[in-house]
Amino acid sequence: MGEIAIRRAVAGDAERLNDALRRLSEDIGDSHAGTPALLARAGFGDHPAFRALLAENASTIVGAALYSPVFSTVRAGAGAYVSDLWTAPEARGKGLGRRLLAAVAEDAEGVWGATFLKLAVYDDNAMARAFYDRLGFAAARGETTLTIDHNGLAALKNEITGNA
Ligand SMILES: CC(C)(COP(=O)(O)OP(=O)(O)OC[C@H]1O[C@@H](n2cnc3c(N)ncnc32)[C@H](O)[C@@H]1OP(=O)(O)O)[C@@H](O)C(=O)NCCC(=O)NCCS
Repeated sequence: MGEIAIRRAVAGDAERLNDALRRLSEDIGDSHAGTPALLARAGFGDHPAFRALLAENASTIVGAALYSPVFSTVRAGAGAYVSDLWTAPEARGKGLGRRLLAAVAEDAEGVWGATFLKLAVYDDNAMARAFYDRLGFAAARGETTLTIDHNGLAALKNEITGNA
């Protein structure tokens, strides 16, 4: 395997980025609802919901990372939430995942002043958990991740409009 370069994804990469994220979904057993158009809109419009890095070997994509800003008054500053991290099977175990996370940290510090990274790993993904443990990530104690879905939000928004 030759020299692998890491660079910021741009709007023209939406299809390549989506392909990498689809492969990530396949690897971890997620359904994949992403499309190039969705990524182009969400990541490269006026108010981007994420930034992304691509790792390239010649013109082949061998890694990707997606991340968004978070803010913590406890930590007194911004951080980055890494929603997606993937390296191609043939590139694994050679330090690329580590390089991608380092590049995320550097970019997030530059753009948001981020001083920490946050992410979630599935309980059944022992390989990724071992990778994160080795890098120094620590599990949150005494807290549970909560999400409200589209239907729940629709009901909540009725509180504002008074249509409940
Ligand atoms: C998890 C993943 C991103 C790691 O990427 P990678 O390129 O293999 O990781 P690296 O080669 O940079 O590994 C960095 C360190 O972790 C270690 N490591 C990697 N895989 C490991 C494993 N399975 N068990 C223990 N340590 C591991 C490496 O030895 C290395 O440590 P070292 O630098 O001290 O030798 C990659 O395996 C992957 O894409 N997996 C499938 C998708 C996935 O699970 N993504 C994460 C979703 S939360």
